[in-house]
Amino acid sequence: MKTQSAQTFIDREARFGAHNYHPLPVVLERGEGIYVWDVEGNRYMDFLAAYSAVNQGHCHPKIVDALTKQAETLALTSRAFYNNVLGEWEEYMCKLLGYDKMLPMNSGAEADETALKLTRKWAYKVKGIPRNEAKIVVCNGNFHGRTITIVSMSSDPDAYNDYGPYTPGFVNIPYNDLEALDQALKDPNVAGFLVEPIQAEAGVYVPEDGFLKKASELCKKHRVLFVADEVQTGLARTGRMLACDHEGVRPDILILGKAISGGMFPVSCVLADDEIMMTIKPGEHGSTYGGNPIAGKVAMAAMNVIVDEKLSENAETMGKLFRSEMEKIDSEMIEIVRGKGLLNAIAIKPIKGKTAWDVCLALKENGVLAKPTHEHIIRFTPPLIINEAQMMEAIGRIKKTFDEFGF
Ligand SMILES: Cc1ncc(COP(=O)(O)O)c(C=O)c1O
Repeated sequence: MKTQSAQTFIDREARFGAHNYHPLPVVLERGEGIYVWDVEGNRYMDFLAAYSAVNQGHCHPKIVDALTKQAETLALTSRAFYNNVLGEWEEYMCKLLGYDKMLPMNSGAEADETALKLTRKWAYKVKGIPRNEAKIVVCNGNFHGRTITIVSMSSDPDAYNDYGPYTPGFVNIPYNDLEALDQALKDPNVAGFLVEPIQAEAGVYVPEDGFLKKASELCKKHRVLFVADEVQTGLARTGRMLACDHEGVRPDILILGKAISGGMFPVSCVLADDEIMMTIKPGEHGSTYGGNPIAGKVAMAAMNVIVDEKLSENAETMGKLFRSEMEKIDSEMIEIVRGKGLLNAIAIKPIKGKTAWDVCLALKENGVLAKPTHEHIIRFTPPLIINEAQMMEAIGRIKKTFDEFGF
């Protein structure tokens, strides 16, 4: 039973907020590490981590410190003037990830939009595609955010229905299909291939080993930019700094967001080399908040945590443990367990009207928070700081939940 106070928060949101989300009925008020607490004082293990934004754990003290110190010093200048943090942050990111230049934005969607603009500029300024004829190849099942242009690439009716007219210039192919990619890239007006190394929102679809490597080689062969959206897969989530690192692939354009700030602040960015990045001139793209000093300090602190606390290594080990234990659960509801590092999902077979949503409600009662994606899939993406004891405790709670369903 919810107390009056939890229901009050839920009712107020329902009354005054747009209904563009369908949250699990839990009202959170505090977080620390892998844990969050609701307004009634119940503690949960957070197995969503704000869709992989909180890789470093809730309220990491080093990131909080960076945020508060910079907030007290200088928060926003706009890019009308220089600030004394942005260059340091740009240098940090370029050196860490091996690119010539970085362009800062705020949300993942904006970073994706930036990458699309860069791809088109490069098409006209460098590749020599006739103006307004550039095409970008994208994959069915993609999720790159919510803008009109981004939903124009989507194959999900919930994402695009009733938002037309749509932005032209995209060619959709099946995910994980090298033949379709090779065919699509033969069109000389194709400028880029935008891809998620693992389709997370779609339900954690991991492509075949070698797909990314071969796709990037095909792009090179056809002089097409390989553009990787690592907003969710990046920054240690899959057991490497970038999911592309699993196959030694270096994207021509790299898109980052979410965990770049450890959930502390909206920060995103795009990295590329000069041939691509320098096609955009002053006045041709930007954002009032993009590159603000708080974002810079927070992002450097958050990136340092990923490196110093060896979160990639931990994600790799804990992910293997998670999948092997999930596979041992004897439940007809579990159709398949899949994932890489700590980006994992279980596909649920509904039985006697019990769906993934019911499983998530029951998990909540057992102290684990997770959320269905696309009806029948539950994504499990805890903060990457989770230790073995915590993981075993969570696994026990998940097992107990399936046991309680009794099938
Ligand atoms: C791969 C990918 N790209 C882009 C986005 C959009 O990010 P944001 O919600 O910050 O706009 C998401 C969000 O889930 C994502 O998973």
